[in-house]
Amino acid sequence: MAKLPILTYPDPVLAKKAEPVAEITPEIKQLMADMVQTMYESDGVGLAAPQVGHCLRLITIDETGPKERKNPLVILNPVFSDCSGSKESEESCLSLPTFTCMVKRFENVTVRGLNEKGEDIEIKAEGLLAIILQHECDHLEGKTLVNHASRLKRTMYDTKVKKWKKD
Ligand code: NI
Repeated sequence: MAKLPILTYPDPVLAKKAEPVAEITPEIKQLMADMVQTMYESDGVGLAAPQVGHCLRLITIDETGPKERKNPLVILNPVFSDCSGSKESEESCLSLPTFTCMVKRFENVTVRGLNEKGEDIEIKAEGLLAIILQHECDHLEGKTLVNHASRLKRTMYDTKVKKWKKD
């Protein structure tokens, strides 16, 4: 397993819509293992394949975090159904250093997809897990937290990012 470099905004890969995973090849298996490792080592609770440069519908999540590592989930080709309620909370993203944003999400979601073995899975989630699932699936649509922010907040972040590139 290897820790992969994480792309940061405004990398164009982060704005692309990801393609379904058609087959679990040895390369995909390696990518899944590397993503879980990268998520933990980056102190994250979720990661989407586009964040490591692969435009594929593949996400990894562990809402218990890198210390506990109790519930690692790998989901291929996730699809939402039965979304209800709403809840607003502050989110951050490994691809958006220093950026945080209040985002309104569904409180309860059901996600169907495939696990790392290619088996059908269905996850009913609420609370933090529901939020992470929605955050990671946004990445598969080419969306990040900046798409949820006000225009002013986004402009200020753009200015900050440009300054970092110059320094
Ligand atoms: Ni993110």
